[in-house]
Amino acid sequence: MKVHNINQRFLIKVIILFSIFYFLFLVFTYRRDYKGYKDYVEDLLLTPIGDEIVYLNGLNFGSVFYLHGNYSCIHGGKEYSVIFTMDKEMYEKANMVMYFDSQIIHRDFYQPPPLNNKISILHGSESPQNSHCFSNAFCVERFNWTISLTGDMKHWYFNSVSAFPIKDNNRENRFDFNRDVWSKKMRSDTNNLSSIGDSGIVAWIASNCEEHVYDNRLEYIKEMMNYIRVDSYGKCLNNIQMKEDGSTQRTSKNLVVQKYKFYLAFENSLCENYITEKTLDCLELGVVPVIMAHPSALKILPKGSYIYAGDYKSSKDLAKYLKYLDENDIEYQKYFNWRTNSTSIEQWYNALPIDVDACVIFNFYQNWKNGKFPMHKNAPFLDPDRYCLPYDYFRIK
Ligand SMILES: *[C@@H]1O[C@H](CO)[C@@H](O)[C@H](O)[C@H]1NC(C)=O
Ligand SMILES: *[C@@H]1O[C@H](CO)[C@@H](O)[C@H](O)[C@H]1NC(C)=O
Ligand SMILES: *[C@@H]1O[C@H](CO)[C@@H](O)[C@H](O)[C@H]1NC(C)=O
Ligand SMILES: *[C@@H]1O[C@H](CO)[C@@H](O)[C@H](O)[C@H]1NC(C)=O
Repeated sequence: MKVHNINQRFLIKVIILFSIFYFLFLVFTYRRDYKGYKDYVEDLLLTPIGDEIVYLNGLNFGSVFYLHGNYSCIHGGKEYSVIFTMDKEMYEKANMVMYFDSQIIHRDFYQPPPLNNKISILHGSESPQNSHCFSNAFCVERFNWTISLTGDMKHWYFNSVSAFPIKDNNRENRFDFNRDVWSKKMRSDTNNLSSIGDSGIVAWIASNCEEHVYDNRLEYIKEMMNYIRVDSYGKCLNNIQMKEDGSTQRTSKNLVVQKYKFYLAFENSLCENYITEKTLDCLELGVVPVIMAHPSALKILPKGSYIYAGDYKSSKDLAKYLKYLDENDIEYQKYFNWRTNSTSIEQWYNALPIDVDACVIFNFYQNWKNGKFPMHKNAPFLDPDRYCLPYDYFRIK
């Protein structure tokens, strides 16, 4: 009996000791595992495995998207390789797939993109009235992120056409009105409405001639033509041929336009922040743009560099003002003062929206992985009724 008792006590002691050791072991390994897990998650969040790949699902306005290519981006002090590709073999490895609004034709029947754990991004740069998917709530909701005028990442129309018109304002290259503007202008015959030739006051080039669709620009210009010569080179209200090489490519267009004092930069839709290269090209060429657009778009232009149709009571009034400037060289020249005013240029640069580039998209993705925002944001459905003005906003008479 006694022996048995001793053995029993010994056994109990062993079991208790063993349990304590086992408990300590569990606590220790749990802590080690937990720490290991935490490190692992942190590593995952901070270090993308391999490269970040964005698969471009087709063309944008019929051309290869401008970001196509390889980039190096910095995030958290590290350098990463970021690839924008159309190579189908890289699709599986891609983290993001980019779709283009201009390609989505049957918007009402648009199916959700195949996801396969990828983030689908919709890209568009047209005004709400000319966009396909963005102006359709059902369609736009199918994407996780958007890049557009009002999207998660901002993209302005004109940024796609590199349009930063300022020459170096250093001493040698400083803007000179006579050399950079005046010497290129044709002598004008302001009062002779019937003369066809190198009149050189007002030019207009447009090929979308539908009337009363999103604005009344055609009717407005038709009325203007009763008071001032407007040389119309495009299909709409055409009254003069391109002399250069007959092509409507941007460079030959610009050769024609720079001979004029004014260019009618009339947009085909009047939507918030919508302004195109028509205006930016004028600033580059030394021509005063006469703008018809949503007033919100003016904030990204240098003050005093343009004439806004909305500031005139009628088409006739605007025409009269252009004639006045044509006869008053000193007043005309004032429209170029901003070029030698560093405050004005600085204000302008600050007002320009920063365009989305490869690393903006990469950093957006990294920030999402770090929990900076949810995957599914409110879809920026661009309701034309909300973002655009009525077609007859600009008064003709
Ligand atoms: C971009 O990266 C991909 C994948 O690493 C490679 O196959 C391709 O040749 C690269 N392209 C250029 C232009 O460097
Ligand atoms: C991306 O959007 C689709 C479509 O709305 C949705 O089904 C999916 O859950 C989203 N992905 C994530 C990771 O939230
Ligand atoms: C107007 O231009 C036409 C054609 O060039 C010319 O024949 C006519 O003499 C001009 N009229 C005036 C008043 O200059
Ligand atoms: C330069 O531009 C600023 C801002 O538009 C304006 O306040 C200032 O009067 C201009 N200076 C000159 C010399 O024109």
